[in-house]
Amino acid sequence: MDTEFGILKTGKEADVFLLERAVPGAESCLLAAKRYRSAEHRLFHRAASYTEGRRGRDSRENRAVRVKSGFGRQIEASRWAEAEFVTLKRLWAAGVRVPYPVQVDGREILMEFIDQGDQAAPRLANCDPSPEQLRWLWAQLVEAMIRLGAQQLAHGDLSPFNVLVKGMDGPEPELVIIDVPQVLDLVSNPNGVTYLHRDCRNMADWFVRRGLDVDAEVLLAEVLSAAW
Ligand SMILES: Nc1ncnc2c1ncn2[C@@H]1O[C@H](COP(=O)(O)OP(=O)(O)OP(=O)(O)O)[C@@H](O)[C@H]1O
Ligand SMILES: [Mg+2]
Repeated sequence: MDTEFGILKTGKEADVFLLERAVPGAESCLLAAKRYRSAEHRLFHRAASYTEGRRGRDSRENRAVRVKSGFGRQIEASRWAEAEFVTLKRLWAAGVRVPYPVQVDGREILMEFIDQGDQAAPRLANCDPSPEQLRWLWAQLVEAMIRLGAQQLAHGDLSPFNVLVKGMDGPEPELVIIDVPQVLDLVSNPNGVTYLHRDCRNMADWFVRRGLDVDAEVLLAEVLSAAW
């Protein structure tokens, strides 16, 4: 049985809820439910450049999405959910630290709740790491981006707002990458490297502002050499 504990965060495209899943005879666990809004309730629309080069099924569904009928808007929300779920599975399998994906149902994904004690883990943007923690977090970021690159993928919307940090009270906090529906293919997407470059700058700039001597261009070169 699932019990909803209320909203964790309202984002631009989706709301995230905390959910308790109780299975008879087993321990209950907390999950995060990300529910995509249908298009008319979205505050943000992704540029088509994200999905350029993606192969789509040409179907009644595609036409409905193109003409933006009510039916089309529902489908669009569930496609983003489906895309995020499939990507989470792929990244998890590739050893990139993302929330473990549990299930997808229509426009909602259930995944591991990234916690900090009994609360949600903070976003990197809201953390104030010590110099040692900063180096440790950067090392994990580089590793995660190289693993993505080795899959010929780039996050495409990476920033300190789409990275959670678990265990900021200890010496070795864990960095978890979230919000992956727009992950893009570096080979087939003509804008892939441009997005990757922006991801590198968003992240490196934050670490530089916190006092770490790192370079976005060096990071980009490392990720690209893992990809080709
Ligand atoms: N698995 C999770 N565990 C804990 N918190 C989460 C999880 N997934 C998302 N969150 C929280 O919900 C927020 C929104 O999630 P996400 O970034 O995936 O959605 P979004 O709609 O793209 O939001 P935004 O517009 O802020 O980018 C995150 O910043 C984070 O604080
Ligand atoms: Mg986000």
